[in-house]
Amino acid sequence: MSKNRLGLLLLAGCLFLLAGCTPSGKKKTEEAADSGNRLLLGFAQIGSESSWRIGNTRSVQEAAGRHGIQLMMSDANQKQENEIRAIRQFIAYQVDVIAFVPIVEEGWENVLYEARNAGIPVILSDRQISDKIDENLYTTYVGADFYAEGQKAGEFLRKKAENSEKETFRIVELLGTPGSTPALQRKQGFHDVIEGDSRFEILESVSGDFLRSKGKESMEMLLEKWGDRIDVLYSHNDGMTLGAIDAIEKAGLRPGKDIVIITVDGEQAAVDLLKEGKINCVVECTPMLGDLIMDLTKKLAAGEEVPRVIHPDETMFTEYDDLSELPPRGY
Ligand code: AHR
Repeated sequence: MSKNRLGLLLLAGCLFLLAGCTPSGKKKTEEAADSGNRLLLGFAQIGSESSWRIGNTRSVQEAAGRHGIQLMMSDANQKQENEIRAIRQFIAYQVDVIAFVPIVEEGWENVLYEARNAGIPVILSDRQISDKIDENLYTTYVGADFYAEGQKAGEFLRKKAENSEKETFRIVELLGTPGSTPALQRKQGFHDVIEGDSRFEILESVSGDFLRSKGKESMEMLLEKWGDRIDVLYSHNDGMTLGAIDAIEKAGLRPGKDIVIITVDGEQAAVDLLKEGKINCVVECTPMLGDLIMDLTKKLAAGEEVPRVIHPDETMFTEYDDLSELPPRGY
């Protein structure tokens, strides 16, 4: 075992002692011996900007426990430089596998070369890196098909139009974090479906950075500018949608009626508002990636081949569906 790795295990052991924890009821010496044999996964998370993200962090932590994998998890507080620093620490500790959520697509070359030179396999979790970056710098991507999510949003809008007397639909769009895969692909998928259909016009697309507070602010600005010309809100996540709904109601308009609301994620709060008629369509994006990541970690550490891309199954929920039997969402 390397000095660094030994140092890490001693540090982890000290923290256990300080906290007085004996998680499995075993003697502390047995715990230390166990942890020395367990796989070590370094996971760089981007922060806690949404309930979705909090659910994603919980899924990874719980799955690590179930799979007996030791987890070093960092929270970058929405800053790419913090994520890069965390990945460098994982390399220094010689973790077995690195997983990280690229907050934006660009800017990962140097740190990924360092991981490759150290012989540590890398999993991209939830978001992807630019296709201009050498694709050999990571092994696999596990997460949603964001382009398909955007297409589903567009297809719902077409169905809504077919069931409506209205002839035109003027749309405002709340985008996610600029330069992130979900923002880029949810936009592209949606635009590709409605493009060329004269019933639809995009009035404006603005960023709300995946944050509820910014979703509200941006929607207030859009309402001020476009007023009751807005027929549809397409929002890239539920957090921003909840903020936008506050702004719409404050402006005296009825979400889901005066303005058609299409959102992505499928948090419990959004599904509840869909049932109340304040949202018309929720495109699902699951944060429950933990078990998939742990399976990949075990396979990569054992030198096994893994698929290049893994998309979890995802669906959508709309005002046309019977949602009475829908189980609790869990995030
Ligand atoms: O990358 C997934 C997106 O990030 C989710 O849609 C959003 O809620 C989160 O912040």
